[in-house]
Formats: sequence, structure tokens, C-alpha cells
Amino acid sequence: MNGENTQNTQDTGNTQDTGNTGNTGSGRGPEGGAGRIPAVELGTGGPEVGVQGLGCMGMSEFYGDTDVPEARATLEAALEAGVTLFDTADMYGRGANEEFLAPFVRAHRDRITLATKFAIVRGEDGAVRGVRNDPAHIRRAVEGSLRRLGTDVIDLYYMHRRDPAVPLEESVGAMAELVREGKVRHLGLSEVTGAELREAHAVHPIAALQSEWSLFSRDVERSAVPAAAELGVALVPYSPLGRGFLTGSFTDASQDLGETDYRRQHPRFTGDNARANAALLEPVHRIAGAHGATAAQVALGWVHRRAEVHGLTVVPIPGTRKRSRLAENLAAIRLQLTADDLTALDAVAESVAGNRYPDMSGTSAARE
Ligand SMILES: NC(=O)c1ccc[n+]([C@@H]2O[C@H](COP(=O)([O-])OP(=O)(O)OC[C@H]3O[C@@H](n4cnc5c(N)ncnc54)[C@H](OP(=O)(O)O)[C@@H]3O)[C@@H](O)[C@H]2O)c1
Repeated sequence: MNGENTQNTQDTGNTQDTGNTGNTGSGRGPEGGAGRIPAVELGTGGPEVGVQGLGCMGMSEFYGDTDVPEARATLEAALEAGVTLFDTADMYGRGANEEFLAPFVRAHRDRITLATKFAIVRGEDGAVRGVRNDPAHIRRAVEGSLRRLGTDVIDLYYMHRRDPAVPLEESVGAMAELVREGKVRHLGLSEVTGAELREAHAVHPIAALQSEWSLFSRDVERSAVPAAAELGVALVPYSPLGRGFLTGSFTDASQDLGETDYRRQHPRFTGDNARANAALLEPVHRIAGAHGATAAQVALGWVHRRAEVHGLTVVPIPGTRKRSRLAENLAAIRLQLTADDLTALDAVAESVAGNRYPDMSGTSAARE
């Protein structure tokens, strides 16, 4: 298992300002006196959420051992800072990540926007068995997620991957039925093309598109981003830190990553690719230095600013299990990158060595 590839054994704005959006440079988090983060509407008619969410996947799987008390403290600190969108999926830890979140959900149910996903089916051994988008699977999956999360409603329910053999109308129709039954409040899709997003949105309003988007991975800008901007669908960029690579923490997976870390098999983290990609971070480090910021903040700042260029609402969900990094990442919201910074950072993606998944066939890029 490694991440969210579904094809082989490795698995895988417009702000309503309630905070301070001026450039503060680096590192100062909510405890630094900068206040709560701004809130945005997650897609037309969607819930209001803090403009940055929290990816919870790594708390249960994929990125090495977790310090559980620190991860739980990170959830609480995020909420206190104004983060309200918490992201999980039924496949993370084969349900363990939803179960991990349950006490937090119970304690704060009315303050959080809870997002989970269905579609990626894993066997007992953890290997991915396939993608299920059919109504019977959707009806079963939602009951499992509700039970594990200990709630009677999911705020945002995503289709994690698309099986092109199942008509979108059927899948989104079944998801819309869950909204009518009160089991789900809003719908989302992950890794769909612009054409698929339009087709789905015609069946039922889609609040959010969750796809990989970072200054290392820009293929989503070809069709999905323009469609989302036109339809008023919010983009929820996943892996906005390039699975940690953009923070400058890695050059050689065999040295830098633990035995169970799935990135040891990731094309961008290994061998010559890792060394070449580390060299690409030069503008990221240079721009970070000029702003008194960190590389992680520049990477996140780029996503926020690129979204403005596209006229799109974005709510990135960087994953972290540590309060210090949460604070660092939230401070990125206020980083004011210049037009020259953007130009330099925009050029990085075209030189990246290695695909964003070992097997790209489950991604939107494969169907464009
Ligand atoms: N829809 C999909 O197909 C899909 C796919 C992948 C992920 N996701 C979702 O998106 C979320 C985020 O993606 P991701 O976790 O893959 O990647 P990411 O957010 O790009 O990076 C996470 C990694 O960066 C590290 N990190 C975070 N902040 C840091 C900082 N300031 N300095 C140094 N390292 C830092 C984290 O380690 P620590 O935890 O140790 O801080 C973790 O290893 C996931 O949690 C999941 O909810 C969705």
C-alpha cells in the first residue's frame, strides 16, 4: 500500500475575512498572535470553512509512525485556529483513519466540516482491489463511514476515484439520494476531468473538487481548474506540499524515509529523480529567504495565489501530525508572493522528474 494509487499493490477567493491577511513573513502561527484564519464558502451554496483545511490521512497510514497524542493535539489546535475542514477517506488505514477521528468528531460535531470519501476498495492485506462507483457500493460505503466516524451525517462526501465503466449519472445520482436522505450534506469528486465535473454538476451541485495541485503537480490546470472556476466549484488541493517534498525535507528516500513510508516507492522521491527534484527547489528556497518564510509556506502560498489567478476558491488540505507544522502552514495564508515570485515558481512543474503516482491510470490526467 502506498498512498492513493488504485491500480497496483501499492495503494495507495473570495474570502470573508475573519482574520489577518497581511504578509507576516514566516512561521508565526495562531499562537503567534495572528488570529484565526479567514473563512470561505466551499463552492456555491457549500458550507463556510476555514480557507485552509487539515489532511488527516498521515495520522493513520502512509507517512511512517505517528505520535498519537501529538496528532490529536494537532486536530484540536487546528480547530482553535479556525481550520474547520477535516479530510479523511474510508480507505485510509482501511477505516482506521475514520475511527481515529471519531472522538474528535463527537467532541466538536457542530464546529467542523467533516469530509470523507468512498470508491477505493482494499483487501484484508491492504492491497487495492479496485474502484467501485456503483450505487450498491455507495449505499454500503456511506453506512460504514457513518458508523466509523460516529456521526449521523457526513458534511462533504467525495467519490475518491472514477471507474469510467460506471456512468457518472448513476454514481452522482446515488450520492444525491444520500443528500435527500440526510446522510450527506454536500457532494465532492476527486481526480475527475473538467468534462466529468461538468457532467456530474448537471446531475447534482458539486461543492468541491479534490485533486492534487501544487507547484510540482499542475496537470489539473488543463481542464479541471477552468471548469471548477466556471461552475463555482471550490478546489481542495491535496498533497499541496508535494507529499512533503516541497518542504525541502528529502533528497534520498532510502536515507530520509522510514521502512514503512510509502514514499520509498514514489517516483519523485527516489534515486536520480529525488536528486534532480531537490535541485528544482532552488527558487522555492530563494523566495522563502526573501520573505523570511519557509519552503512549506512558499508552496502553500503558491496554491493560494494561483487560485486567485484562475478566479477560483481554494481550500488546500496540507497534512501534518504536528502542531508546530500546523502553525507554520497556516501562516502561509498571509504570505504575499509577488508577480515575479509566481513567475519563477510557475516554471518549476515542467521540470519535475517522475510522475505524481507510480501508476497514473487512476488519475484525471489519464482520461483527458
Ligand atoms: N483525494 C486524493 O486522492 C488524496 C490523495 C492524497 C492525499 N489526500 C488528502 O490530502 C491530504 C494532504 O496530502 P498529503 O498528506 O498526501 O501531502 P502534503 O500535505 O503535500 O504533505 C504531507 C507531508 O508533509 C509533511 N509536512 C507537513 N507540513 C510540513 C512542514 N511545514 N514542514 C515539513 N514537513 C511538513 C507531513 O509530515 P508530518 O505529518 O510528519 O508533519 C507529511 O509527511 C491528506 O492528508 C489526505 O487527506 C487526498
